Amino acid sequence: MDTKVLQPNSYSYDLARKYILAGDNVAFPTETVYGLGANAFSDEAVARIYEVKGRAQDNPLIVHFADPKDITDVAIITNDIEKRIIDKCMPGPISLVLKKKPGVCTRASCGLDTVACRVPENKVARDFIHAVGVPICAPSANLSKRPSPTTAQDVYEDMGGKIPLIIDGGECTIGIESTVVRVVDGRIYVLRPGKYSATELEKIIGVPVVTKVEETQVPVSPGTKYSHYCPRVPMCMVKSHNMDIVLRLYQEKVSQGLNPIILCDALNEAKYNGLNYIVLGSDSESASKNLFSYLRRAEKGYDYIIAEFVDRGDMQEGLYNRMCKAASGNIID
Ligand code: TXA
Ligand code: MG
Repeated sequence: MDTKVLQPNSYSYDLARKYILAGDNVAFPTETVYGLGANAFSDEAVARIYEVKGRAQDNPLIVHFADPKDITDVAIITNDIEKRIIDKCMPGPISLVLKKKPGVCTRASCGLDTVACRVPENKVARDFIHAVGVPICAPSANLSKRPSPTTAQDVYEDMGGKIPLIIDGGECTIGIESTVVRVVDGRIYVLRPGKYSATELEKIIGVPVVTKVEETQVPVSPGTKYSHYCPRVPMCMVKSHNMDIVLRLYQEKVSQGLNPIILCDALNEAKYNGLNYIVLGSDSESASKNLFSYLRRAEKGYDYIIAEFVDRGDMQEGLYNRMCKAASGNIID
């Protein structure tokens, strides 16, 4: 299959509409990562997402809308906290798990009685959804287990030849996926950390936010049990108070005949003079934005990745979670 990569305009939106209504998948940008979209009302179109990505069959999908008011087409808002989350945080990088109405295909929700709903802030995302005229189920547009795509080129790398169209909206501004939340008994449970931190949510919504979620309190996101975001080469994450270990590990890998690279914090750049390194960022926002794309860059030229995590204590749970997972738990504490 020929995969077209097109700029967002009326021609590409028209084409996207045709593909989506015919049951095909179309990739589109959001502020977090690129999504692989399908008609949320079609079981076959949604089944194709699982096939194309190689996604686990029990991992449900987020349904995306152009406007918050459209959420009630597929879900029921059962309390004031859910309503406040929608009113105050949407459009934005958050997905809210709500009670499902009949109609959304069962394939998307994997048989659960809930559905995760999200209204992206990115204008291209919303114009695309508006143009196709149906809610859009979309996981991140990467092959399962790979780092999520933050540019159209990243999507092409994983999806080229498998889908008919990628809408190129440039680089994603946030770079890690939305915060997935669910409201139970007057509390917000964070099922997947993301750009919205627990502290921010607590402040905005004014109710307790629970981040360490046990299956006994609320069903956790099925997706979080799978390995995720992994580069093609092994990776180790080193926490900030252990930076000398980065140098030791680097030398150890060199002596094993490997060609390692360090993803470092701007703070430590000078230490790695003469070694292979890329500056991941100078704060949690820039590091989050760059993480997935730099993992994809690093795997192309090097055979071991050492990533520093510098703890600034400034609401980095999304970045921390993605880095731990990318390292497959290979963490030096
Ligand atoms: O930023 C994002 O959320 C991106 C963009 C494209 O919107 N999408 C994304 O989708 O990251 P995906 O499929 O890669 O991750 C969806 C996460 C998974 O961990 C899944 O288990 C969880 O959301 N999820 C979906 N529906 C759920 C539900 N009904 N209950 C609990 N967790 C759910
Ligand atoms: Mg994903």
